[in-house]
Amino acid sequence: MGEMSLEAFSALLERPGRTLLEAERALRKLLAPVTDSPQFEAAELLAAACGVSRSEILLGGGFPPDERKRASLLSMTGRRLNREPLQYILGRWDFYGRPFYVGEGVLIPRPDTEVLMETVLRGLSDVRSPRVLELCGGSGCLAVTLSLERPDAEVWSVEKSEAAYAYLVKNNEALGGAVHAVLGDAFVLDTVEGDFDCILANPPYLSAQDMAELEPELAYEPEMALYGDRDGLYFYRRLSKLWPPRLKTGGLFAYEVGVHQADAVGAMLREAGLKTICQTPDYSGIMRVVTARK
Ligand SMILES: C[S@@+](CC[C@H](N)C(=O)[O-])C[C@H]1O[C@@H](n2cnc3c(N)ncnc32)[C@H](O)[C@@H]1O
Repeated sequence: MGEMSLEAFSALLERPGRTLLEAERALRKLLAPVTDSPQFEAAELLAAACGVSRSEILLGGGFPPDERKRASLLSMTGRRLNREPLQYILGRWDFYGRPFYVGEGVLIPRPDTEVLMETVLRGLSDVRSPRVLELCGGSGCLAVTLSLERPDAEVWSVEKSEAAYAYLVKNNEALGGAVHAVLGDAFVLDTVEGDFDCILANPPYLSAQDMAELEPELAYEPEMALYGDRDGLYFYRRLSKLWPPRLKTGGLFAYEVGVHQADAVGAMLREAGLKTICQTPDYSGIMRVVTARK
């Protein structure tokens, strides 16, 4: 097969007798310049647009003779070639084994964030009916997962962006969570009442330099979810001063942090009077989570 273009792909889909496997091979080739995982992405797009499974593609069955499905596949493919994230095109993405709705205005849940989730679940394993506060809730991937993994917990999640908050509420309902979602500012203490056994946050943490070097896909995600001011540490600085008084004695403070931020963030938590500062690496060995106890 020679060069593949969207036009050539469209013509292939129109050809009588074309198989799913042929469509997948062509799509893979078309996507190769924009992704490191063309095979995975081709199968995901085919499955989403045409309602076929991976095994149906491999068995090389006939391509559905459905005009609407063809148009949908072409539209999704065009969006992906414009570097829109696959996750936004599919409209849902898994976090901790559950599908979360995602789209414009909300950060896509990342696998690295599962390390924060695991750390918090482990840290709360001895606490019965914990009160938990998540700051900067986004899609709700952390708060909703926590609420489902620990049905005895009272989970609050604060999110400032209206678009992201709408996803938080939608995901909580769709997955059957019991999160108290709050549209509010993480820098305002009055946003929620009482003390907590755990306060966690995955705040925006990219620096000005990171923002200048973004992959095209990241530019589709809201700046408000990414940018942590010049050095990326703005949220950690303010949240670490503000919230420790609202942690119960023995309570757990837990952050996800960006590359090379763990030491600086640990120092902020120590300065705030917290103890037992701990760093946990992600699956690539980068220190990704910083925790402390009161
Ligand atoms: C890095 S995202 C994390 C989203 C989600 N918790 C996750 O782990 O995928 C940070 C979130 O903080 C929100 N945010 C930014 N400034 C905020 C503020 N002052 N108060 C509350 N939320 C804020 C953004 O809209 C975004 O949804």
